[in-house]
Order: sequence, then C-alpha cells, then structure tokens
Amino acid sequence: MTDHSLPEFDSAQTRATELQQLLHRYNQEYYQYDSPSIPDAEYDRLLRELQQLEAAYPELQTPDSPTQRVGSTPLSAFEEVAHERPMLSLDNAMNGDEFADFYARLQRLAGSSNDIALVCEPKLDGAAVSLLYEQGQLVRAATRGDGSRGENITANVRTIKNVPLTLQGDFPARLEVRGEVYMPLNGFERYNQQAREQGGKVFANPRNAAAGSLRQLDSKITAKRPLEFCAYGLGVVSDEASLPDTLFAVFACIRDWGFKVNDELTLANNLTEAQAFYAQLGAKRHGLGYEIDGTVFKVNDLALQQQMGFVARAPRWAIAYKFPAVEQMTRLNGVDFQVGRTGAITPVARLAPVAVAGVTVSNATLHNMDEIERLDVRIGDTVVVRRAGDVIPQIVSVVLDQRPEDAAAIQMPEHCPVCDSQVERVEGEAVARCTGGLVCAAQRKEAIKHFASRKALDIEGLGDKLIEQLVDADLIDAVDDLFHLQHEQLVALERMGPKSADNVLAAIEAAKQTTLARFLYALGIREVGVVTAQNLASYFGFLQRIMDASHEQLLAVDDIGDIVARHIVNFFAEPHNRSTIEQLQAAGVTWQESEPQTAAASELPLAGQTAVITGTLTAMSRDDAKAALQALGAKVTGSVSAKTDFLVAGEKAGSKLSKAQSLGVEILDEAALQALLAQHGGQG
Ligand code: IVH
Repeated sequence: MTDHSLPEFDSAQTRATELQQLLHRYNQEYYQYDSPSIPDAEYDRLLRELQQLEAAYPELQTPDSPTQRVGSTPLSAFEEVAHERPMLSLDNAMNGDEFADFYARLQRLAGSSNDIALVCEPKLDGAAVSLLYEQGQLVRAATRGDGSRGENITANVRTIKNVPLTLQGDFPARLEVRGEVYMPLNGFERYNQQAREQGGKVFANPRNAAAGSLRQLDSKITAKRPLEFCAYGLGVVSDEASLPDTLFAVFACIRDWGFKVNDELTLANNLTEAQAFYAQLGAKRHGLGYEIDGTVFKVNDLALQQQMGFVARAPRWAIAYKFPAVEQMTRLNGVDFQVGRTGAITPVARLAPVAVAGVTVSNATLHNMDEIERLDVRIGDTVVVRRAGDVIPQIVSVVLDQRPEDAAAIQMPEHCPVCDSQVERVEGEAVARCTGGLVCAAQRKEAIKHFASRKALDIEGLGDKLIEQLVDADLIDAVDDLFHLQHEQLVALERMGPKSADNVLAAIEAAKQTTLARFLYALGIREVGVVTAQNLASYFGFLQRIMDASHEQLLAVDDIGDIVARHIVNFFAEPHNRSTIEQLQAAGVTWQESEPQTAAASELPLAGQTAVITGTLTAMSRDDAKAALQALGAKVTGSVSAKTDFLVAGEKAGSKLSKAQSLGVEILDEAALQALLAQHGGQG
C-alpha cells in the first residue's frame, strides 16, 4: 500500500469485512487444506492492512477476526492435546535495522551495553512439533495448533525415521523436545513429480507438504513421505536444574539424547557475528537442501532468557530475522513450448519479470498439459511463482480472485515449434512429444548438450551456446560429429578465437577417455540417469552385454523396473543408435571394461560404512570419488553426523570438516582416499 492516509469509516468498514473474508478463506486453504492460493508475503500484507484498519477503528475488530487468531484449529479427527507450556511463536525482523533494534532492546533488557551472545539457527520452513518423552520413551507427539492446544499426531510422528523413539545417554525422566518437521527439497521434488505423474495431490511448497503429511489420519501415508525432524528447543523438563546454563550447551545435550540438531547451528558472541551469520546463511540458502525462510537468534544465557520473559505470544529473547520471500505474485504473459532431448514438449511460462528472493524471474516451468489443467492456469492470470533450491522456478497456484475476463486457455501446439513435425501424446502419458526425432534440431541440440555435460563426457568449454552455434552452422548433426571438428571450422564461428578453439578441441580429445557408466549416461537413454547408468555398468561390466541384454536380464539390475528396461531395450534395438555407438568407438572414445563385481552388496569391502565427501579433490571429481566408494559398498551422504564412519576432506574443506573433528569422525585426506581405493582395487 502506498497510500497511508486513513480511509473514511464507511470505506474502512467495507474493506475490513472484505479482508476478514479473504483472510478467513486463505487461512482455511493454508491450515485445513495445506494448499494456499497466495504467497505468505501477500497474506502478511493483507493481515497487516486489516490490523491497521482495526487499530484505527477498534469497533471493526470482531472476536472472530483473523487478526485475533494465530495458528490452526485442531481437526476434530485428531485428539486434542493441551500444551503444558505454550508453544510460542517468534517476532520477526524484516531488515538489518529491525535486527539491530532487537539487539539494542536485548541490551536494554539486560541492563548493560555488554555484548550478548546469541545462538544462531536457520528458520526451518516446516511444521512445529512437540515430542514428549517419559523415562526415555516417546509417549506423545503434538502439533503446535493455536499454541495452547494442538493435535495428537503420535502415530504419524513415530513414522519419521530420525525421531528417536527411545532416548540415549543421561536424560531427564520427563522431557519435551520441540522442533520442526520438514520435507527436504529433494524428497519434496520427487514426491511432487510422482504426484504429478499419478494424479495425486501436488503440494505448493515443502512446508505445506510437511504439515499435510503430519495431518494424515492414516499414518501409513505419513510413513511414505520423506520427512525429517530437527530439534530447536525444550518444553517441559522434569529436572530443570540438571540442565546446563546456556542454550548452546543444551543443544549439545539434545544431540546426545539422539536428536538431529541443525548443522548450521552457531554461537555468535556479538551483533557483528550475528549479522555475519545472517549474511553467510543467506548466501548458502539455496544450496542447503531444505527450505528456510530466515535465521533465528536466541539469547544464549538461559538465566537472562528467564529474566527477559515474553510479550503476548513471543519471547523477548528471540527473533526470526527473515530472508526475502521465495514466493511472489506476477502475471502470466504467455506460454512457449520447448522441445527437449527426447522430444518431450514442455510448456514454459513467460512471466512479467518479478524479483523472487533476490533474482529476477521471467520464466517458469509448467511441466506438461496435465499440470496446466491441474493449476487451471490461463494466460493473463495472476500466478504465484516459487523459486527454491536449485530447481527451475515453478508456478504453484493461480490467484483466481484476480483472473481477468479475457484470460485465455493454453493449448498444446499440434506441430513442433522447432521442426514442424506432428506432436503426439501417448495414451496414459502426461507428456506430449515431437515425432521428428533426429530431424528436429531442438532434439539434436539437447542430445549433444547432454552428451557433453558434466556428469556425462564432461567436455569442458563445450557449452550450450557453442553447441547451438555448431548445430545451426551445420557443423555437427549428432554426437559423433564432435570428434571430427576441425580447428578452422571452430575459429570461423562468432566469438571464437584460435586459443579457445584449441581448448575446445583439447577438451574433446581428453573426453575420449571415459568410463562405461559415463558413456551410458551420455547416450541419453530415456530414464537412465547417473545412478542407473552406474548400476548397469557395474552389473554387466561390458557395453556389449548391456546392448544384448534382454528385458528380463535388465530387470535384475538394481533400480531398473519394467519401464526403464523397456527404454533400454528399445534404445539398443534402434539401428541408428547402434551405429552412433560404433562411430563413437571408431572416433576413439574408450573406457576400461572388466568382469562385473559379483560380490553381494553385504560382502563388499566398505559395506555398512557411511562416508561424506567435502572440499575440492584434485585427482578425481567428487562425483567419481562418490561412485568409487559406492562401488565398494559404502553409503555416501551429504552431511556429517554421529553415524558417519569417515569424512573424505579435500582442499578448502569447511564446516563439515570441523563438525567431523568435533564428533571424532575419522578423516581421510585425498591421498588416504586413493590408498583406500587402491587397497580394495577400486578405481583411483
Ligand atoms: S524457536 C520460543 N527455532 O518458527 C521460540 N522456531 O514463528 C519458539 N521455526 O512455530 C520457536 N525454525 O515452527 C524456533 N530454529 C527455530 C525454528 C523455529 C523454524 C518455526 C517454528 C515456530 C515458528 C515461530
């Protein structure tokens, strides 16, 4: 709102009623159906507008106004739980000034201008949960609800794998641990992708997915959702005097009892360090693997916390310092159709440019026509765009209230926008495909880009733009043509000097030496990703055996089901694919082949061991190191915990290394890794 002047009472009343109705509906969408139609930031704006009107005209404030209620009403189907200690919320700081004000207020409350140490945490975007333990056994789990009363969701929470059912170590007889249940981004994307394919419920964001999964009446459904719990504090504790006197030390206890505590947890000694934490976490935000919407700062000294107390529903000793919102509203100006490597035609939304969490977004994927139908999105609509993690921005919902009368339906073209071949949609499949195959320049370009990409042949310097130039100039038609490129052809291209041309040719030459797994992945067989390619390579050992494998033989390989097996058989049945492979081998593309590892998984030398790789390796890439360790039976995960057996630390290793050191986890440098691989005959 730009106009801050007060409206007349009559128009204020009309607007307040309108806002109350809207907010009621949005509340219901959010809490009852876990599917909001507007972004949080927009909700907050409307709520603030209503608060301002009600503040100016208190007679407008009805007891059931959305301003009078925070949190959800428990569903009748779950048993109600009264929280012995209210589950509070947090005040927000929206910018650096507000955060500095918070810090100054802490100093005022403490009665001293000395530095105040703060525990710094990410603000996880999930659902708050209280876990009650008696004699070390999980006896009850509850949602936050309205803060005083929540829902008993014990059956559901028991299905979350990292929630301890029994505590470890020395714990108070009665103990309530509070924290956030959230859905990590990879699980969220996978879940939604599957839901899209199978016509299930697609969640707008990981938080709704977490909240929705926790409120399933059938805990078997919850059990299938990839949820995690992370502890951030305590509720009732039978023997409070036994606790340490700082929050940071309490976190160490919580970890010792068997809970996950956030990896980013840090102690800041003063305002500058706290601000640095905010900046550093903000920089890492999109690479964390889970969604956060800010940082939380809490006074470390528990006696001081006690002294500072609460106001309304939030403690005075804590604050949520928010990051820019990852969801924004904008207008859908049009839809383009892009052709992928396998001919799949993807509708791409052209948006009125909008800044989303620091990046201007003007395109978003619409996945396929089913998704367009599900969203009921039309050109001209106001849509909610979301940008999170490394995934392409998505449209999560349409603000139907704002649909213009001339909003136009979106239609799949009948002909490929690139090669004009017929577009077909296979029965039972969500995607439409261009039937042009290699006639279609778009498919050829995408196939070559895939072939040269990092996880495939990894041809450095052969980027997307250059591949497009090469195809457009008719210098290459298919992947094997790359190996016949001449220096003069390259230098004739725009923006290509003799030095860069040499570099590209050298990179192409170097890429000839590869691995069977990379080669298989590079071929771009439908549904054969890095992991499947790796599994195929280690199971069969030789390309020829894979090419000759029957459907049944393929089904014996880990991770390969009916559909993938069919794609593999079809791929190798195609004469032009066989001839491409011959051409590639004739051009000098090679890899080492060997008899497959026949040992059962449990007999592999590193079976049962969990490893983490961090920092920069010089002799091999992290992906290759990971593959080599996996081939020896190790499980390779992304974060260090008490369950980690060893950490491979390359150069410039950071927080994972310090964490491993503090947990006493074994650390291997790159030489030790090479020695380990050599010892077990792995690829070094
Ligand atoms: S502490 C007394 N710490 O944010 C303080 N909350 O607005 C109570 N949240 O309902 C909360 N990450 O669901 C705390 N590291 C964190 C958090 C966190 C996320 C959520 C929590 C709570 C809401 C408060």
